[in-house]
Amino acid sequence: MKINAKTKLCVVIGDPVEDSLSPQIHNAGYESLGIDDQFVYAACQISAPDLADFVAGARAMGIRGICCKMPHKLEIMRYLDEIDPVAEAVGAVNTVVNDNGHLKGYNTDWIGITEPLEAITSLQGKKVALLGAGGAARAAAYGVTKRGAELTIYNRTLEKAELLAAQVGGTARSIDDAESIKSMDIIINTTSVGVPLSHNETPLPKEFITEKHIVFDAVYASGYTRLLNEAQEQGAQIIPGTEMLLHQGMEQFRLFTGQNAPENAMRKAFMAALDTRENT
Ligand code: ATR
Repeated sequence: MKINAKTKLCVVIGDPVEDSLSPQIHNAGYESLGIDDQFVYAACQISAPDLADFVAGARAMGIRGICCKMPHKLEIMRYLDEIDPVAEAVGAVNTVVNDNGHLKGYNTDWIGITEPLEAITSLQGKKVALLGAGGAARAAAYGVTKRGAELTIYNRTLEKAELLAAQVGGTARSIDDAESIKSMDIIINTTSVGVPLSHNETPLPKEFITEKHIVFDAVYASGYTRLLNEAQEQGAQIIPGTEMLLHQGMEQFRLFTGQNAPENAMRKAFMAALDTRENT
């Protein structure tokens, strides 16, 4: 144990938070870089009514970094000293950095979408079908349009897709118009359909997926969703939601420590933690 009086504390907050794997992932990153005497990462169960007290406590304690899970991503914005313009544009903060008492909010969720995709292809000019129009969709829509993709948002409730399209740019369609997805390059699912895996549901029938697609199921699950399994059967390239979680966390790591995140060590710790959680 290398923790000492100079070690800086980073935390993930949420309600619930006990399922978060961020502590294992970040601490493995600190250890891999040999900075586990400088940083340690823990989790705090914080309910919505306790958020103001938590932020005051974080200031008093000098907590270095905060990762915000639901239900805090919007509410935390009112307690911060500064909000990064990107987080402002996405409309949510999932990361807070404390620089000597100055709390600045960031959003790294959109990077969790763009980085895994850009490891495979350039997004410039690509046609992206985004399924869903909630919070996760917002971050994805921001990310892919920022990288030059042509966005179409498909949602069960068309009005919500229209609202998001008006804000980020792009076209809105009902999820019932899925035929047009066949000619797109990339499909990103942000709806909750497919989780839990045992329900064996999919937001997009298999017949609309071809071998030309890249299919990213941004919804985090401990195994492949039906969407990913069927996409694979159709010959499409697939990206599981674990990649989104890993890459948004790697950007958080960089903001908290000022160092590039060690991807392999963090991925390995993530997979091991997932395994442990599934088998206990
Ligand atoms: P998040 O913040 O995780 O994105 P959210 O804001 O609750 O969650 O958004 C959930 C998304 O999943 C919405 O786009 C929702 O569609 P509606 O806007 O029509 O509600 C979509 N969704 C949830 N359940 C769905 C279902 N059974 N079929 C189709 N879409 C669904």
